[in-house]
Amino acid sequence: MDGVERSKHKGRRRALVAGGAGFLGAHLCRRLVEEGYEVVALDSLVTGRLTNLSGLMDDTANGHRLRFVRHDVTESFDGASFDPIADIVFNLACCASPIHYQAQPVHTLKTCLEGALNLLQLAHRNRARIFQASTSEVYGEPETHPQKEAYRGAVSTTGPRACYDEGKRCAETLFFDYRREHGVQIKVARIFNTYGPFMREDDGRVVSNLIVQALRGEPMTIYGEGRQTRSFCYVDDLVQGIMRLMETPPGFTGPVNLGNPVEVTVLELAERILALTGSHSRLVRKPMPTDDPTRRCPDISLARTQLGWEPRIPLDEGLRRTIAWFAAQEASRNARAMEVDRDCA
Ligand SMILES: NC(=O)c1ccc[n+]([C@@H]2O[C@H](COP(=O)([O-])OP(=O)(O)OC[C@H]3O[C@@H](n4cnc5c(N)ncnc54)[C@H](O)[C@@H]3O)[C@@H](O)[C@H]2O)c1
Repeated sequence: MDGVERSKHKGRRRALVAGGAGFLGAHLCRRLVEEGYEVVALDSLVTGRLTNLSGLMDDTANGHRLRFVRHDVTESFDGASFDPIADIVFNLACCASPIHYQAQPVHTLKTCLEGALNLLQLAHRNRARIFQASTSEVYGEPETHPQKEAYRGAVSTTGPRACYDEGKRCAETLFFDYRREHGVQIKVARIFNTYGPFMREDDGRVVSNLIVQALRGEPMTIYGEGRQTRSFCYVDDLVQGIMRLMETPPGFTGPVNLGNPVEVTVLELAERILALTGSHSRLVRKPMPTDDPTRRCPDISLARTQLGWEPRIPLDEGLRRTIAWFAAQEASRNARAMEVDRDCA
């Protein structure tokens, strides 16, 4: 089936994306609209931004539609201001950056648990398939490398990251219990570090942090010696992985790792960003945050065999696209600041 046929086929299907105004959510909404879905993007806007969805909300050409609803997923959907009907539900609602999820740790846990519960109930009522954005953080500080789905993790239950890590672990349990108890069709992906346009410049994630610092000529922050590794997946690859997962037969639930198996140190990442931006920023070292994992790399054998998926966009290409987007944001920010200066002069 080509793209056009697929769009026609899915033309009247409705997708609900919780966390739809966030970084990944906005890319997913865009992809779903392109595929012909009618999309409801739910978001509390705690870290998400409506500008991430610009161009989608008023795009009624070819029947493409997206509706934004401001809603906190910890609140029940009973009596909600929208019609909670969906063929397919995506749960991406949860701040992903440590700065934000640690700012309100109790609410983060509630989002992981009550949010998952409310969305599972909604999926159950609608007989909808439901996707859970789980995370590589469920592996904690891994003792095996690379991480396979069968690895059960080494997670602190009491540290500052636990609200997110344990919340996501428990959300996986809820998903599987809902399947066992109610037969809900679930799909769980453990997402590894993903980057690209629409990341916030101020949320402390390593790629956005380093790019913004390089573009502004500010010192670039390296935590510890910078020898900790991450594997960075470009967002378009990740969205493709999610779409493939949702198309698998009901018997395949995951959890499945989605990420880039190419491992780089944070120091190597900083050096690539310096080279690609041509920046003269210097590197400054700060102490490692508590419980920051030292190695992180997915084993994606399961995704390769079950989804026929693997990342396609090399790091340098993904970084180039991301740098171009952040550079455009910086340019419009500077233009706005100059306008204000002119108006005040
Ligand atoms: N980006 C990554 O590298 C990565 C890695 C692993 C897992 N994930 C998961 O993917 C999902 C999306 O991540 P992201 O990078 O887009 O993060 P993000 O912070 O950009 O997006 C999260 C969105 O959820 C919204 N949100 C948070 N709490 C909410 C609540 N209680 N009710 C309604 N909306 C709420 C935020 O406003 C935001 O729009 C998250 O669940 C995250 O845990 C992301």
